Amino acid sequence: MELGIALVGFGNVAQGLARILIRKRDLLTTRYGIIPVVKAVVTGSKGTLWDPSGLDLEAVLDSMADLENLSGVSALPATIDEILKGDEISVVVDTTPTDLVTGEPGLSIIKRAIESGKHVVSSSKGPVSVALPELTDLATRHGVAYRFEGALLSGTPSINLAMEAMAGCDVVKVQGIVNGTTNYILTRMEEGMGYEDALAEAQDRGYAETDPSGDVDGWDAAVKAQIIASVIMGEPISLDQVERRGISEISRSDVLAALDRGNRIKLIAQVERRGRDVVASVSPMELPLDHPLAGVMGATNAITYETDNLKDVTIVGPGAGREETGQALLADLLAIFRERGGLVVRRSA
Ligand code: HSE
Repeated sequence: MELGIALVGFGNVAQGLARILIRKRDLLTTRYGIIPVVKAVVTGSKGTLWDPSGLDLEAVLDSMADLENLSGVSALPATIDEILKGDEISVVVDTTPTDLVTGEPGLSIIKRAIESGKHVVSSSKGPVSVALPELTDLATRHGVAYRFEGALLSGTPSINLAMEAMAGCDVVKVQGIVNGTTNYILTRMEEGMGYEDALAEAQDRGYAETDPSGDVDGWDAAVKAQIIASVIMGEPISLDQVERRGISEISRSDVLAALDRGNRIKLIAQVERRGRDVVASVSPMELPLDHPLAGVMGATNAITYETDNLKDVTIVGPGAGREETGQALLADLLAIFRERGGLVVRRSA
């Protein structure tokens, strides 16, 4: 079954997904019966590529510096509305840079896609933070899916784990390391690197937000705490309700002094049910070295869900990265088509 895809945003994460789609082309067809065909690539600064018979993804990736001159495709003045008008596209993959105040540009794109009857998978946190109830309601009314696994712990299953695999459990408390960039910086500082160099390395590796103050000032982790409260614990809260401190005031000497005391500094997101309320916070904490989260290093993230039926469930895995987040988008794509009977899972004999 052909799956027409529009990639809106073509930065680190969308390119990561594109590479996975190229590498897994045969497997996706033989195991899942799905032929993903990327027909549109909409970039923020380099225009739009649109070919209803399918773009050559390898050529697109190879021509990033010169997309408008890519031969064999029509680099049109196509608008998103033109692309969404027909039935060539089934799923819009939104990876636009996130603006946590307005949710834009992802928010408008997601709304237009849903209103055009397209499923949406997204790694953008802004739209979830600003307009989750509106978007889920809109998707329900239009009979399409809106999924955003990549907004929390990149491709390490965290939202889908809690909502689907642990369905029926009540999550009463969550503690986690939910930002890859800051955990990477703290790790590299412990290894001897200065703050600025460690941040530059995190940017090079594709972990940091377009504006890395979103990471180091704790905004990214705060949105993830908001998502945990609103989506996983079912208590919608605003970003303002998350108490927030980042790591920009933590120096290398603070990191080493904590180690001398037998502790490690980690940026911890905590969400807890207290009576009828849910209380969420993000702050650097000194954890004893034998604490389960103290050994989580680099861009690796971890979340412990404290639940009624299962007690503690901890998931540890990549929290950021190009293909790591691309995997979240792929898992969401496959989930949509599995749920809607669009996929026949064929296992090899
Ligand atoms: N900037 C984010 C991080 C990306 O470092 O965790 C993944 O959400």
